[in-house]
Amino acid sequence: MKIEPSTLYGKELHDFLSSTVIPRPIAFVSTVNTEGRYNAAPFSAFARLTVDPPVLVLAIGRSKGRKKDTVRNIEAVGDFVVNMVDENIVQAMNQAAAEYPPDVDEIKEVGLTAIKSAKVKSPRIAEAPFSVECKLMQILELGEKPNRSSIIFGHIVMLHVKDEVMTNGKIDPLKAKIVGRLGDGNLYCYTTNTFSLGRPKYQPPA
Ligand SMILES: Cc1cc2nc3c(=O)[nH]c(=O)nc-3n(C[C@H](O)[C@H](O)[C@H](O)COP(=O)(O)O)c2cc1C
Repeated sequence: MKIEPSTLYGKELHDFLSSTVIPRPIAFVSTVNTEGRYNAAPFSAFARLTVDPPVLVLAIGRSKGRKKDTVRNIEAVGDFVVNMVDENIVQAMNQAAAEYPPDVDEIKEVGLTAIKSAKVKSPRIAEAPFSVECKLMQILELGEKPNRSSIIFGHIVMLHVKDEVMTNGKIDPLKAKIVGRLGDGNLYCYTTNTFSLGRPKYQPPA
């Protein structure tokens, strides 16, 4: 079967494209607005982009044609925190995806704890296995109204990792138990069923 994206529209196109990159990690993004109110929401259009400089990227769409609270806070304050989602906070992360009014502290509302970050104004989520503090580098607006997306580049300035998910000074994926998102619906995956593949070396013909 061949599918040409230009023949699909709206939700059908969104759902189809969301299934082309699976599984996806979830950035549970915590921010603060100019009045000091906290916000948190999940975004799976998310990747660690470059190492030098250390940059990650998020793609955040519009909600009924309006910028989402996360984007408005990042633009106004200039930073954000990406909290990774494990099996313990996956329910709370999902709850935070509901469209709360801007004056609701979503971190508290979903039963999580906001704590002060080290280098940014946005709070981090205490229960996350690890959190990544980012300063806003650049926002690229892609697409036409009303479906425009804000592509947010964040410069990583600090990482917080719980001791219990570390092994020999590194984040241990088997301990961190991060969950992934599959497609666009309600399907998620665990990352604890793993296997190892050694990196091959090219063997020139004898
Ligand atoms: C697992 C998951 C992943 C999501 N990924 C995205 C995403 O990549 N981009 C996006 O615009 N919305 C995404 N959403 C929807 C937002 O979380 C939702 O619109 C949220 O209400 C935005 O909150 P805010 O207005 O507080 O920023 C996702 C939702 C879930 C549950």
